[in-house]
Amino acid sequence: MYTDNYLPQPPIFAAFFFHMKRLLSYLYPIRKKVPSQYNGKLEVTWYDGKKYLNTKNANYSYGSLQEILKFGLEQINLNPISNCLLLGLGGGSVIDTLRSDFNFQQHITAVDIDPVVIAIAQKEFQHYNSPALNMVCADAKAFIHETTTRFDLIIVDLYIDAYMPSQFTELSFWKAILKSHSKQGAIIFNAALHTSNSKVLQPIISLLKANGFTVNIHQKVNGTNTLLVAQTP
Ligand SMILES: C[S@@+](CC[C@H](N)C(=O)[O-])C[C@H]1O[C@@H](n2cnc3c(N)ncnc32)[C@H](O)[C@@H]1O
Repeated sequence: MYTDNYLPQPPIFAAFFFHMKRLLSYLYPIRKKVPSQYNGKLEVTWYDGKKYLNTKNANYSYGSLQEILKFGLEQINLNPISNCLLLGLGGGSVIDTLRSDFNFQQHITAVDIDPVVIAIAQKEFQHYNSPALNMVCADAKAFIHETTTRFDLIIVDLYIDAYMPSQFTELSFWKAILKSHSKQGAIIFNAALHTSNSKVLQPIISLLKANGFTVNIHQKVNGTNTLLVAQTP
């Protein structure tokens, strides 16, 4: 379970400590380690005035991961998108990207299996449930099979440390993604860390094309990841 190390503080002290940590992080990284049943040791790190969420071997949120998903969002037309499903909330950096860089104010449903991650998204990165954001603690596979909502944009960003569970490349998962998609919008899939994974992606690409999507594979985005970007005409 995630617990904040500090006693509740009046807002003025909280703001003071926030700025102290930010300034000190220019001198040396400030790390807080948080154990999680699903993700091993999570690390909230202040570095050079910015806060990141990392695992032992991967950047989960903010930093490189945020740049990779931002690149994906730059490839699509967000104007007709009226709702978004994010599978893999992490610290919620893509939510900040959508809101701040793309002025996307539509509803976002964000799913994560890990209650510790959701607590970190709230307490460390200030993402709260609101009329425009619904954070759900659930297994992404179960959620996508059960939901009756149709989403215009689905972002699939599901990792355990540096590893994407193989169930998320199975066609049954992608058929459920298509069932939950309005077919008027886009899908962004953060498909692999460091490797091209092209063989595994081929059946998914064929399925998406057969359902009217144009599909582009971007290799080595930000020097590392493979990103699948699918959109309807
Ligand atoms: C790279 S992080 C997501 C980062 C996030 N998209 C962002 O913008 O900051 C990957 C997340 O996938 C979640 N995850 C892994 N397996 C999952 C599953 N079966 N169901 C739901 N979430 C899962 C992990 O708990 C982790 O928080």
